[in-house]
Amino acid sequence: MKITVDIPGHKYNIHLQRGILKDVHKFVDLNRKVLIVTDDEIPEQYVDALQKQCPDSYLATVHAGEQSKCFIYLQFIWNALLDNGFGRKDLLIALGGGVVGDLTSFAAATYMRGVDYVNIPTSTLAQIDSSIGGKGAINLGDVKNIVGAFHQPRAVFIDPDVLTTLDDRNYYNGLAEAVKAGMIGDAELFQLFEQLPADRAAIQSDYIEKIIEKALLVKKNVVEQDERETGLRQILNFGHTIGHAIESAGELAGMLHGEAIAAGMVQVTEDPAVKERLIAVLQKLNLPTSHDYPAEQLKDIIAHDKKAGGGRITLIKVPEIGRAERVKLPLDAIEKYL
Ligand SMILES: NC(=O)c1ccc[n+]([C@@H]2O[C@H](COP(=O)([O-])OP(=O)(O)OC[C@H]3O[C@@H](n4cnc5c(N)ncnc54)[C@H](O)[C@@H]3O)[C@@H](O)[C@H]2O)c1
Ligand SMILES: [Zn+2]
Repeated sequence: MKITVDIPGHKYNIHLQRGILKDVHKFVDLNRKVLIVTDDEIPEQYVDALQKQCPDSYLATVHAGEQSKCFIYLQFIWNALLDNGFGRKDLLIALGGGVVGDLTSFAAATYMRGVDYVNIPTSTLAQIDSSIGGKGAINLGDVKNIVGAFHQPRAVFIDPDVLTTLDDRNYYNGLAEAVKAGMIGDAELFQLFEQLPADRAAIQSDYIEKIIEKALLVKKNVVEQDERETGLRQILNFGHTIGHAIESAGELAGMLHGEAIAAGMVQVTEDPAVKERLIAVLQKLNLPTSHDYPAEQLKDIIAHDKKAGGGRITLIKVPEIGRAERVKLPLDAIEKYL
């Protein structure tokens, strides 16, 4: 199936279909120089499937993991482009999870002031969330996503079959973003999670396409109305204010992004009935529903993150499943949610 994202001046298609990895050439002109950016834990068979379709391809492989969203690897990609004579009409392809996607998007946004890139997300998190919306970034030290750009992909290809090689922890981690999408904008998607069995194989064979499609539609609708996150797009940050703090508090040994926002969503949910349903779904998906970090530590991290916000933060609340609200609060008011 095809979903069109219609951002003014940047219209592009998301192709969601099992096996689509072999058919990218049918939709994108690959008869030019193509730099495939991937990481060293992405199975080779996916890289091969893509390389076969590109007569003039180059490979830039980064180490797997969040540490690769850094200036050194950004420069590595720029150098690969420059050394191989890439010009304005050539193409980058991100083949990997959110790390590879964010890095490639930013490299493409900046090389020659902007060249085309295509996203082929291979993790659940990237297929459900990070591959659309055009946010690319690197981290500076332990400050996440602090340098980046908005640069929309030319197209996105989502092949749910590639998820079979992902480990369990990463598989469920990405589903947290789809639970979030249900919470903020699609009660039916949330109900789908309530109905599905607690069994990865069954989710993968019978439910995953529906989950990805519905989650992407929520994000598409929001991003189309507010590409640059000046207002409505903030609702995508449900669970993220506290989630990001939990993620940072644990540093590299702590929770993954989806795990941290799972706990973050529970923390900010006030209605007892909504909270109970949310916890039941997260438990079914092997996702955490709480954290062990001291409130004081999380508050410090949030205060540090929000320095630029003039002492106020925007908290996203979900008073009923499927509907989000934005509430501006003084920083101190966050305490009761930690
Ligand atoms: N741009 C956005 O809008 C946005 C949104 C959410 C998250 N993010 C970013 O995304 C990143 C996290 O993404 P992630 O969870 O995909 O992490 P990741 O890219 O680190 O991938 C997780 C692990 O899974 C492996 N992997 C990926 N696909 C695989 C496959 N098919 N088979 C086997 N192994 C596979 C990777 O090699 C890696 O080791 C974070 O940096 C976060 O900031 C960006
Ligand atoms: Zn997220």
